[in-house]
Amino acid sequence: MEQIRSSRLSGFYKLSFGERQQQVARWAELTEAEVAVLSGTAGLDPGRADLMIENVVGVYGLPLGIATNFVVNGRDVLVPMAIEEPSVVAGASLAARLARAGGGFQAITTAPEMIGQLQVLDVADPWAARFALLAAREELLALANETDPVIISLGGGARDLEVRVLEHTPVGPMVIVHLIMDCRDAMGANLVNTACEAVAGRVEQITGGRVLLRILSNLADRRLARARCTIPVEALECADFSGEQVARGIVEAWAFAAADPYRAATHNKGIMNGVDAVVVATGNDWRAVEAGAHAYAARSGRYTSLSTWERDPQGHLVGTLEMPLAVGIVGGATRSHPVAQVALKILGVKTARELAEVIVSVGLAQNLAALRALATEGIQRGHMRLHARQVALAAGATGDEVAQVAQRMAEEGVIRIDRAVAILNTLRGNTGS
Ligand code: MEV
Repeated sequence: MEQIRSSRLSGFYKLSFGERQQQVARWAELTEAEVAVLSGTAGLDPGRADLMIENVVGVYGLPLGIATNFVVNGRDVLVPMAIEEPSVVAGASLAARLARAGGGFQAITTAPEMIGQLQVLDVADPWAARFALLAAREELLALANETDPVIISLGGGARDLEVRVLEHTPVGPMVIVHLIMDCRDAMGANLVNTACEAVAGRVEQITGGRVLLRILSNLADRRLARARCTIPVEALECADFSGEQVARGIVEAWAFAAADPYRAATHNKGIMNGVDAVVVATGNDWRAVEAGAHAYAARSGRYTSLSTWERDPQGHLVGTLEMPLAVGIVGGATRSHPVAQVALKILGVKTARELAEVIVSVGLAQNLAALRALATEGIQRGHMRLHARQVALAAGATGDEVAQVAQRMAEEGVIRIDRAVAILNTLRGNTGS
């Protein structure tokens, strides 16, 4: 039976590594073996890594943090995030707390449909070929469906056929076939690419042309995720700013991104800080998600913000985020990476669509955290405090020295590697160099 659990883990950040791990283990009912995976003692071992890619010489680690406070579609969620950048996990948790005051995030997704593309060249009459392909729709979909009986048994498979003519390209006209496949809980790259290759011969017969590329499109605009949240204006109040000032500042900051591609790139990068961290933690292909997000942001012909921020009639702040999210919970590294399996268990998601609904909510939360900081004290104060630990580590500090060096730099307001080295030398009584 589903337990009623709160993701509002106040003071979680103050716990030790081991205490946090135990709390999450209890929360998500992790086994000892799963906790060992998180500890790194049974995570991605070299033998397994050697089977995942080519020419393996090691295993690359990243910190795995937990964002707290998330409520997505009424369900409390703890969110595993794999990322090297300080402030991201703290920012997501803070923004999720603000959204919680307004009921959390509502998120929805479209069906998990991916687009596979076939490029048909040397077609004598592209428009006649288009008609002939559309007339053969049922036959081509059936052919695509022969490639994977498992996806059919799960309720997925080929759904539709679209045909476009690109009349003016540097090599002349071409006919582009879109094979739309419902990938259910898989990201679907292999499924789609296999189906595209399978129908290519018949497409050549029908068109009299030559098929060159057969590959999925990362502009997954049939597989969209949308999140929405309402932040009560009083929840936005902070030390030196009223809730009203913060809400207005966030809308003004968003308007800048909506109007200017230079700002939109950074604004969307902030969204992707959250999105990618969960995509990576769950073993999904973050390059695919990145490519889809930015192509979608430019779909009007002008690159713009993926999110919107506005005020409702009561003056509360309302945010939305809409983006393609091609993620899965089966196949690829989602299954073969032990940490990804534990991350999925912590998330408690049962379908790829549910995973996408959490991820798009985290993207919106991350955007809120960034805009809130930028529109008030600026991001450097909070960020540099956290960044100081990394600078201390880079300077060679170990154990307790890390916190001491970081704190000293934060007090001085100078967070630089040369200063960290100097403080470390003083701490160690080494004033020689
Ligand atoms: C830094 O990783 C992300 C931000 O630059 C995002 C933004 O500017 O909105 C803070």
